[in-house]
Amino acid sequence: MEKLTYTHDAQAAAVIASVYQDAPPLAYVHSFGCQQNVNDGEKIRGVLMDVGFGMCDNVEQADLILFNTCAVREHAEQRVFGNVGALKKLKEKNPKLVIGVCGCMAQQQHIVDKLRKSYPYVDLVFGVDGIDRLPAMLAERFRRGKRYLENPKARNAVVEDLPIRRDSGFRAWLPIMYGCDNFCTYCIVPYVRGRERSREPEDILAEFRQLVEQGYKEITLLGQNVNSYGKGLENPIDFADLLVRLCEVPGNYQIRFMTSHPKDASRKLIDTIAAQPHLCKHIHLPVQSGSDRILKQMNRHYTVEQYHELIEYARSKIPGVTFSSDIIVGFPGETEEDFQKTLDLVESVGYMQLFTFIYSKREGTPAAKMEDPITREEKTARMDRLLRTQEKIAFASIASLVGQTVRVLVEGAGRLEGTLNGRLDNNLVVEFAGADTLIGEYAEVRLTGSRAALLLGELADTQN
Ligand code: SAH
Ligand code: SF4
Ligand code: F3S
Repeated sequence: MEKLTYTHDAQAAAVIASVYQDAPPLAYVHSFGCQQNVNDGEKIRGVLMDVGFGMCDNVEQADLILFNTCAVREHAEQRVFGNVGALKKLKEKNPKLVIGVCGCMAQQQHIVDKLRKSYPYVDLVFGVDGIDRLPAMLAERFRRGKRYLENPKARNAVVEDLPIRRDSGFRAWLPIMYGCDNFCTYCIVPYVRGRERSREPEDILAEFRQLVEQGYKEITLLGQNVNSYGKGLENPIDFADLLVRLCEVPGNYQIRFMTSHPKDASRKLIDTIAAQPHLCKHIHLPVQSGSDRILKQMNRHYTVEQYHELIEYARSKIPGVTFSSDIIVGFPGETEEDFQKTLDLVESVGYMQLFTFIYSKREGTPAAKMEDPITREEKTARMDRLLRTQEKIAFASIASLVGQTVRVLVEGAGRLEGTLNGRLDNNLVVEFAGADTLIGEYAEVRLTGSRAALLLGELADTQN
């Protein structure tokens, strides 16, 4: 693994300044996909600002439009093509406009070929490892006066010290590792994000301390499989020990992390969550399927029984712990019997939140070659059944919390005028009346009711 450090590219900044002599250029950056990608988007903004760009949130005003894309499902890719297609008219009106596509989609040759051939107004294409070179690529685009499209290549580096423009002043993403080595048979991520590589604990700690000093109240550690953190480092350290080191930093903050792969979630990790007050008592533990046969074909390396044992152990050690999960419906060859096992698992675990996806075939993955006789209609019907099962259980367990007084982090305005949304430690959301000045702060809220997945509450009188 290669460790690189970002440095300001003065030459590129000069080229960009000479192109936009009348007024500083504005960039519109939109990220699709997972939190890792959102965090990359924040770095893209930081790098662009480092070379003279301002930011805007309207494509009409932008001199540079950049889509930071996701490839995990076909639908995500279609949305990007739709968004890019809609820019054609804008480009005709303003030929100086630069349109770029980056991120996970741009790591696939067939996508780059399609952009090259069918989207001639796209000027700039680069993959997930290109963020630090963005100024140089833009300069190259201007110097040559023609499109700059990079073919996918895996550089597999860790780049430190990238400038960053964070979306929020109180919640931050902190990647601890990049890439994935698990090769679940349905998943494109290992192909687009490259090999798993961990950041040095000292680099993570330095960023973490800075966030705490800046007053961040919630820091979410990111990795495709945080439980395998530390492998391959010169001085290997495991995820639980990293958490302990982070929790030693004094301050008023909470830590979340995602994603935990069940095959690598250790009892030590659960003991650590139980012991550390800074760690939220919520575990996102994607199970994907409740059938051992399907789990095997997915290459997930755990059984339903092992998964249950983990959940039981966590319940015995962490009072009030909640779980959320991802489930794929309609994996190639999933029978009614397999699906029924998924329903059973969902019922017995009682997830508070569930993210469900209909299987999407990804070219180049092993599952793409598996026979998939299940019709789209059948998959959609199973998805509906799964959602109904989940809701029945989740809504009841959410309602059972009513009466408690809980600490929440106030995230923003609620749906109704004068209300706010706060997130509980267990990741549920409560709506309550309160002033905007509370946004970004912790508040004590009494839970007074619930509507579907949303809790309702009122500010508790903290004087008593
Ligand atoms: N690394 C994480 C998740 C990464 S992708 C993990 O292992 O849990 C987020 C979710 O997208 C996955 O958990 C999975 O449920 C879903 N997903 C991934 N590939 C998919 C595909 N080809 N079709 C449908 N859903 C998919
Ligand atoms: Fe994809 Fe599996 Fe890696 Fe998650 S662990 S990113 S599902 S290959
Ligand atoms: Fe999508 Fe890439 Fe994340 S494929 S889910 S944005 S790692």
